[in-house]
Amino acid sequence: MTETTRPMRVLSGVQPSGALHLGNYLGALTKFARLQESAECFFFVADLHAITVPQDPSKLAGQTREIAAAMLAAGVDPLRAAVFPQSAVRAHAELAWLLNCTARLGWLDRMTQFKEKSGKDKERASVGLYSYPVLQAADILVYRATHVPVGEDQKQHLELTRDIAAKFNTDFKAPDHFILPEPLIEGPGARVMSLRDGRAKMSKSDPSDQSRINLTDSRDVIIQKIKRARTDPEVLPDRLEALAGRAEADNLVGLYAAMSGETKAEVLHRFAGQGFGVFKPALAEVTADRLAPVSAQLNRLLAEPDEIDRVLQEGAERAAAVAEPVLAETKRVVGFWRAGAGT
Ligand code: TYM
Repeated sequence: MTETTRPMRVLSGVQPSGALHLGNYLGALTKFARLQESAECFFFVADLHAITVPQDPSKLAGQTREIAAAMLAAGVDPLRAAVFPQSAVRAHAELAWLLNCTARLGWLDRMTQFKEKSGKDKERASVGLYSYPVLQAADILVYRATHVPVGEDQKQHLELTRDIAAKFNTDFKAPDHFILPEPLIEGPGARVMSLRDGRAKMSKSDPSDQSRINLTDSRDVIIQKIKRARTDPEVLPDRLEALAGRAEADNLVGLYAAMSGETKAEVLHRFAGQGFGVFKPALAEVTADRLAPVSAQLNRLLAEPDEIDRVLQEGAERAAAVAEPVLAETKRVVGFWRAGAGT
């Protein structure tokens, strides 16, 4: 089957390492809900990735349930999409080992996220943090996923996944073994920036809670955070090009567009000539309105951990049924011993 005739299979993961924010919601979760309408979908909680940096063992399972609940609250339907913890499907970790032997050190040395996360003291970073993108490649390739919806910060990892898949297929003379996945990154929510600095991405690890809007924030907190967001003294322009060099203004216009479902040009058309004294309350309103049902549903789901566990268990079984045969075939391609397979 060629890549164009192959049915669309979508996969993505979210780490259970802190409360989800608007960037996660717009860059990933809203896309998940949309894609399940037309494609077979696998959405997992990336707990194996989370432990590349220290996690509290007494909290990890709870954080995993929270991410699953956030996926469901954002509209993912567990009857359509498999929702599961990464660690519950062994094939991810096992394929990652095989791919560690395909990926090159030079490729991993170029990964900007490792540089950011390891900081100045690289010697003390875990080996897992370094080979993190190889595990991510395994996550994707073990399902033969065709499309991967993510925010822009994952672009480099997706490129690496394609490089690893292509090298494996070439090295083992198995040209069709792994599918080279397409990233789905488009849209105004693909790169949501910090409310305190328009040049830094909105992130779970930013020490300032004022820099992000969490899915669990109340209406009042959302309004107050947007009111305090950093801006400039200019009014909004009527053309997109005029936002160049105005990172904070550009980010807030992008957020409005993502929240209201309009394009940035349409937002500017409506607010051209207005200052932030008018724009910020409008943005706060549209954001709080859009997130209210999501956080209400999230809180409802969090009160039913048994129901989430049932979804995760069932999702893991469905996922394993797809991943195991791909792993078995990969082991065959690599040439491992199998009972009864002859010489
Ligand atoms: P994570 O947990 O950091 O983020 C989850 C998703 O949210 C997106 N995202 C953003 N999108 C827009 N603006 C932002 N400021 C922003 N911050 C985060 C991320 O791009 C991501 O889509 N390595 C991944 C998890 C992962 C994965 C995978 C993803 C593991 N294996 C396989 C896809 C396929 C991560 O750390 O995402």
